[in-house]
Amino acid sequence: MADNIKRLAVFCSGTGSNFRALFHAIRDRELPAEIVLCLSNRSECGAFDFAREQGMETMFISEKQFGSPDDFGRAMLGALQERNIEYILLAGYMRKVPDAVIEAYTDRILNIHPALLPKFGGAGMYGIHVHKAVIAAGESESGATVHLVNEEYDKGRILLQSKVAVLPGDTPETLAERVLNCEHILYPDALEQFLAGKL
Ligand code: GAR
Repeated sequence: MADNIKRLAVFCSGTGSNFRALFHAIRDRELPAEIVLCLSNRSECGAFDFAREQGMETMFISEKQFGSPDDFGRAMLGALQERNIEYILLAGYMRKVPDAVIEAYTDRILNIHPALLPKFGGAGMYGIHVHKAVIAAGESESGATVHLVNEEYDKGRILLQSKVAVLPGDTPETLAERVLNCEHILYPDALEQFLAGKL
């Protein structure tokens, strides 16, 4: 494998539609990267199904398997380092990344969040909860944000954002679908620009 091909791990908790979008963009745009590991806190999920179809390694790892948060962090970090993972892409990963991993991968972990950060971020703001909060606040627009991950939830440097309108009559579910469609364009674009050193 060429030296300039970055080794990526994608962390997912569910369907993995962003994971698929990233995978296809890397292949179709010939980006200098390869997803070599799909990691999840759930033993079965749509993301794992896709990873297996592609012959990619999957890893189920959950804090519940360990006696302490430190043990969990050490185990996850060890697994990433054993595989020479260089960058981590969070794609619908609904858990906090252990501090040990965040420290070891400073400025090398990207996340996609389904709102326009810094609004509607932080603890408890994930998935459908975000869209409920956006509608309850009467916002006229929402969107998605790709950002670097640091130890503060959803507070790392923003790399790229994309907006969508909140329409009259939107439900959390209809808004979620519109935002998700825009995520599938935004995350690959952000990855491409990030790998090129443009963000
Ligand atoms: C996406 O909307 C993503 O932005 C969100 O979960 C969904 C995962 O969908 N992530 C968060 O809320 C993280 N705070 P997917 O599994 O189909 O990619």
